[in-house]
Amino acid sequence: MPKTKTVYVCQNCGAESPKWIGRCPSCKEWNTYHEEIIASSSAHEINPILKRERRKPELLDEIKSDEHQRQKTGSPELDRILGGGMVAGSLILLGGEPGIGKSTLALQLALALKDRSILYVSGEESEEQISLRAKRLKSSNPQCYVYSETELENILVQADNLKPGLIVIDSIQTIRTGMLESSAGTVSQVRECAAQLLKFSKTTGIPVFLIGHITKDGTLAGPKVLEHIVDIVLYFEGDNNYIYRILRSVKNRFGSTSELGIFEMTESGLREVANPSAMFINQHDEPLSGISIAATVDGIRPFLIETQALVSSAVYGTPQRSSTGFDIRRLNMLLAVLEKRAGFRLGVKDVFLNIAGGIKVEDPAIDLAIISSVLSSNLDSPVGKDVCFSGEVGLSGEIRPVSRIEQRIREASKMGFSRIYISKYQKNLSFKGAEIEIISVGKVEALVKSLFK
Ligand code: TYD
Ligand code: MG
Repeated sequence: MPKTKTVYVCQNCGAESPKWIGRCPSCKEWNTYHEEIIASSSAHEINPILKRERRKPELLDEIKSDEHQRQKTGSPELDRILGGGMVAGSLILLGGEPGIGKSTLALQLALALKDRSILYVSGEESEEQISLRAKRLKSSNPQCYVYSETELENILVQADNLKPGLIVIDSIQTIRTGMLESSAGTVSQVRECAAQLLKFSKTTGIPVFLIGHITKDGTLAGPKVLEHIVDIVLYFEGDNNYIYRILRSVKNRFGSTSELGIFEMTESGLREVANPSAMFINQHDEPLSGISIAATVDGIRPFLIETQALVSSAVYGTPQRSSTGFDIRRLNMLLAVLEKRAGFRLGVKDVFLNIAGGIKVEDPAIDLAIISSVLSSNLDSPVGKDVCFSGEVGLSGEIRPVSRIEQRIREASKMGFSRIYISKYQKNLSFKGAEIEIISVGKVEALVKSLFK
């Protein structure tokens, strides 16, 4: 019997050590080292497909590139995020929290691609469960094969026999290779399986879609190892209690990473949201205080989003601060600016903030809308339904310019707003022909004067 060799592997970053250590010297996480058994050196002979490979280096000039032969996925949103469609032989990772809709998105993709055969491998669900899901999606594809399997070697044999046009692996954490003795989902298994799938996809030209689970702290299990291996990393995010989902690309070897797609989860699967601005603004009949609309940009996509604030007298000594969809530290900073610059005694008030639709916004241009909502709720005076905001707030209360201002203004104008507040310091503003009034403000004090006089 060959002697088994063990190694300690960091479950966060994949670093290895011959002995157990408490804190990973590479990623500085505590208690992430687990013992994993690695197999004997003859392991490479187990895989029949990899063994067959005997390729030689080629001259760069002689390589025929089919870079422009992108394969459409049937979903315009997904095509855009991928940079215009799938590239042959690409390995795409789709990450997200459990229940967010990764399997649904992947199955919808498999059912939409009717011009080629698909191999949908699930290590989590049985064939019957996948069939039920397909019925729920009210779609079918006569060329879609489903295969409930967790052994990588079996999957590669079937993939080699079928030669499908696309392989979906749901999920990479449930697949294991016989080359390693550790259990599925460990860093070494995830890394080895992904590497073998990469090799398979590169040699056959078949695109492979990997689904990956995200751990509680928002990273993929074995995140750094996986992100390095694959060509494209997509994240599917959103709040499980809401229907909206954002598909974002964080790495793309064949396109830009600034694209994002917005979907809604319906009774029969995911549907693309063509006009997100209309979804994130609630229609109120009468003007309400504490609400204002921000013209934000995510990646390169502009959309308008509603921010809501509630300011009330603090019942207990320490005022409460709560924020959903916006960084609480930034909220505290904005409140401090309001206290200092606009004379509002917010230290004795509870402040609750909410971004509509369960969306997380990181665009600093939302600041102006947030302080407007807070002030509006504090004064119990609505800011008006026809006004929106786009500007960053600095520590001295100055309103700072933001990127892509023309796009934001155009979107606001398209959505029927008649006034938009922006920074006075916005340079090169070449926006003409607007049916929207642009109000430039330089300081928080000026905003307050203009809004609530
Ligand atoms: P799923 O794709 O299984 O999530 P993941 O693979 O990321 O874990 O999606 C699970 C959720 O989506 C589940 O709560 C039910 C919901 N859902 C719908 O609302 N409509 C549908 O048509 C489908 C298939 C699922
Ligand atoms: Mg799933």
